[in-house]
Amino acid sequence: MRDIVAELAERRRIARLGGGEKYIDAQHGRGKLTARERIDLLLDPDSFEEIDMFVEHDGQEFGMQDKKIPGDGVVTGWGTVNGRPIYLYAKDFTVFGGSLSKAHSKKINKVQDMALRNGVPIIGILDSGGARIQEGVDALGGYAEVFQRNTLASGVIPQITMVMGPCAGGDVYSPALTDFIFMVRNTSYMFVTGPGVVKTVTNEEVTAEELGGAKVHTTKSSVADGAYDNDVEALAELRRLIDFLPLSNQTGVPEQPSHDVRDRVEESLDTLVPDNPNMPYNMMELVTKMVDEGDFFEIQKDFAKNVIVGFGRIEGRTVGVVANQPMVLAGVLDSDASRKAARFVRFCDCFDIPIVTLVDVPGFLPGTSQEYGGLIKHGAKLLFAYAEATVPKITVITRKAYGGAYDVMASKHLRGDMNYAWPTAEIAVMGAKGAVEIIFRSSIGNDEEIAARTSEYEDKFLNPFVAAERGYIDEVIMPRNTRRRVARSLALLRNKKLDNPWKKHDNIPL
Ligand code: HXC
Repeated sequence: MRDIVAELAERRRIARLGGGEKYIDAQHGRGKLTARERIDLLLDPDSFEEIDMFVEHDGQEFGMQDKKIPGDGVVTGWGTVNGRPIYLYAKDFTVFGGSLSKAHSKKINKVQDMALRNGVPIIGILDSGGARIQEGVDALGGYAEVFQRNTLASGVIPQITMVMGPCAGGDVYSPALTDFIFMVRNTSYMFVTGPGVVKTVTNEEVTAEELGGAKVHTTKSSVADGAYDNDVEALAELRRLIDFLPLSNQTGVPEQPSHDVRDRVEESLDTLVPDNPNMPYNMMELVTKMVDEGDFFEIQKDFAKNVIVGFGRIEGRTVGVVANQPMVLAGVLDSDASRKAARFVRFCDCFDIPIVTLVDVPGFLPGTSQEYGGLIKHGAKLLFAYAEATVPKITVITRKAYGGAYDVMASKHLRGDMNYAWPTAEIAVMGAKGAVEIIFRSSIGNDEEIAARTSEYEDKFLNPFVAAERGYIDEVIMPRNTRRRVARSLALLRNKKLDNPWKKHDNIPL
């Protein structure tokens, strides 16, 4: 017995060393932590339960039969974050560059299956050279087994990917199938084909960072949802995000003790909207003054900044916030903003997270570049997402709600549960100037007449009352009371029941 215990201890020691000291030093030299160090930072102390520590590959080609390292380049298991369970897998770059073999993929599949069966989120930490080149088709098949499980788990349990090193070829598609991707600046990158292949095929000279670094994917491609300066910060923020998320689509949102007051009055909000309707203001001020303790986890904050999306809490329970941002492009909806918000709305709806929508939108962005880029289809994504969502939907119109964008932004007509407007709201087909130019195009005379007509239009339509008189707005509220109104509505809507007609799945305009 004593011998076998000693052997277990020795085997564990060797497995925990991964590729060994030389490779660990190299990993640190690149500014990265090892898989096990990352797990330690992510999980609560002593909560990690490792699975499959001794698994080895069975590759027989290119001398691999003599090169076996227990664990085979991925550390898998489960643990807790602030007491709540998660499954995880972390690629170990010190072992064959974290590359994926058949055995390696089976380890990932095992935790994926357990997470789905047990209704627990799964986190993937990626740092890998892609398919194990010595294994060929077994590695390709292994990736597809991961993708299949990602797809089946989508909408059932939250899936999050941390890209913390190279991530190429097969490794990029699994993250893309998950709910959120976070990257680390300067040490991580994602691309389907690397700079070498790009040079051969297109003759473009590009560095890995320029092709698929964190900046590219958080500002241009929108593949990633956030970027952090180093592994430690990324994992601390991941813990924060996990606290907001339900364990699965069956559990409802988590509830945390809140030290904030539900009826907190924010007088400063009464003057948030400037007198001049063309002046911007920062919608983030309303977001942070509305949610508990100003704590807001923003998603995709560097992409399509004309719309803000993210998680907050009200009375300790998670809400998803979608808000137009008048500081950027006057808060207009364009293709990027529509896609960004649509995906977020769908995430919330999958996981029973109520949605609070804050509206100040002058419409959809006109122009050839938008129309050629498929604005109709992208705008329709957001429309579709809101229209199909059955979670509690609360809308507050702070200022402009013009045209199709009024309809789209969780209007009453799309089954909004409570639709509020501030006294400064302007709900109309378009702004007064544009309206006058069209209605009176053939008859209008001098500047004085234009001004008179414009002010007539403003008086008639640019207020919340026309909509309130028709019941499209449930109530015109004082800005200072927004938190209380939203909180009380959310409390009332806790047992909301609303089902869509049965279907195999919908056909959102992709
Ligand atoms: C086997 C690999 C490997 C791989 C890296 N290694 N990638 N072993 N299969 N895919 C090994 C290296 O041989 C090396 O081992 C060790 O990992 C560390 O790699 P380095 O090259 O020294 O590290 P670095 O300089 O940091 O470069 C990292 C890298 C590079 C950029 C990821 O290793 C690389 O380009 N690897 C190949 C990437 C690739 O083309 N993968 C296939 C993608 S195709 P030693 O023992 O020498 O230290 C794919 C298809 C799937 O994934 C499609 C499914 C849909």
